[in-house]
Amino acid sequence: MLSCSEAIIRRRSIRKFQDRPIPEEYLDQIIEAARLAPSGTNRQPWRFVLLQGDDKEKIAGSVIQPFVLKAPAVFVCCLDKHAYLKTLVEERLNELVQADVVSKEAAGVIYQHKLPEKVEDVVLPASAYLDLGIAIENMVLMATSYGLGTCWVRLFNPAQVQETLALPACIEAVVLLPVGYPDQDPPQRPRLSRMEIMIQP
Ligand SMILES: Cc1cc2nc3c(=O)[nH]c(=O)nc-3n(C[C@H](O)[C@H](O)[C@H](O)COP(=O)(O)O)c2cc1C
Repeated sequence: MLSCSEAIIRRRSIRKFQDRPIPEEYLDQIIEAARLAPSGTNRQPWRFVLLQGDDKEKIAGSVIQPFVLKAPAVFVCCLDKHAYLKTLVEERLNELVQADVVSKEAAGVIYQHKLPEKVEDVVLPASAYLDLGIAIENMVLMATSYGLGTCWVRLFNPAQVQETLALPACIEAVVLLPVGYPDQDPPQRPRLSRMEIMIQP
């Protein structure tokens, strides 16, 4: 198993997979990696559908890049609007205040927000996508550490996935994450230099 730092360095987007099953335990650990991710107010808005075998056909019409369906497993990574309801946010916030990790004054800033009481009124905030992104990258790195390959995929039709997987309206499919043993060893893609990404204070 690779260390976290090795996984960060060795990870590549993999678009060609071996026809080899993934041990159940590895899939469990990938889900666990998502579960342990940090999130704003500990709201944990991420939800996942794991498609394997014939179930992958359910998203066949929504996928633009055929390699996605050739992976033995595909996670449909989603957000749940319920995580942004007033009752739930306040419950999570109270936990943080009681645990003394957030002060009452800091919590007051959120309590002052007009939080939605009905799921139909929830507009997912930018932080929801940050939270899901962190959970997904945790999954990616866990998979890499087990020698598995993954690729973030946004090129798909979320509305169609919503329909074919019969996802409720409160669930938004955001990313597809195919997972499998790599059948390619791509070189590192070009990256900006440190000079280019650092802004002088
Ligand atoms: C948010 C996001 C969306 C992406 N969507 C796609 C996609 O739809 N299809 C695809 O082939 N690669 C997709 N990628 C992979 C990028 O092309 C890839 O990360 C980038 O070229 C750098 O290569 P590397 O991941 O091998 O380092 C996506 C990556 C991210 C982070």
